[in-house]
Amino acid sequence: MNFRIVDLAETGSTNDWIAEHPENGLWVRADRQTAGRGRRARTWTSEIGNLFTSTLAAPQPGEGPSQQLSFVAANALLETVARWVPRDRLSLKWPNDLLLDGVKVAGILLEGHAQGVIIGIGVNLAHFPEGTERPATSLAAVGIAPPSAREACRTLAEAFAAHRRRWREEGFVATRADWLAAAAGLGKPIVARLGNADLTGTFDGLAEDGALLLRLPDGTLRPIHAGEVFTLGD
Ligand code: BTN
Repeated sequence: MNFRIVDLAETGSTNDWIAEHPENGLWVRADRQTAGRGRRARTWTSEIGNLFTSTLAAPQPGEGPSQQLSFVAANALLETVARWVPRDRLSLKWPNDLLLDGVKVAGILLEGHAQGVIIGIGVNLAHFPEGTERPATSLAAVGIAPPSAREACRTLAEAFAAHRRRWREEGFVATRADWLAAAAGLGKPIVARLGNADLTGTFDGLAEDGALLLRLPDGTLRPIHAGEVFTLGD
């Protein structure tokens, strides 16, 4: 699919901008966001030099359920950052964080829209926020010269189109296999935090609807649809 990128100097949130300018294949990128947001209503610090971009994915014939898009986007994000960072230093954390040396370097925020799903992606290229609840890093912080946000955005839009095509043509089997090949903690003990309760088990895989499959100590599989997961020791 062809894409087009609109570059803005500043906006509140690129997710809001794209919601107001829904157009197939359009990506918006801002140098800076004044009201960037992350999952769980967290603020997403948005300094010049990092990537802040969003697109609207309207359902296409042959595509699976929209929850699967989150993994398509995560695969594209990993492939993008792997252009500059050795792939073995990158991993994916459910549902869709990108980790560099085990520390968060990028995140994805999916939001519903009347015409499809808005996919917002933030990558810490040059800066990372300090004093956050969970530690973060950037390419620059580990000594990797970051690309410009524009270049990173073009690479991401291309990678997303390719991964979306793979999803449409080969199904979620292919997308899930890509995602699991890079997943942090697969087969290892993890804790799923559901509200105030913690469930411990083994990270066993991904369900068709994107739920994390947690193998409980009694052998049963419990799908986790929302919440946060931690590897033991996090
Ligand atoms: C997360 O990990 O919590 C998701 C972070 C998503 C941040 C991006 S930056 C571009 C887009 N606009 C926003 O306000 N948020 C997303």
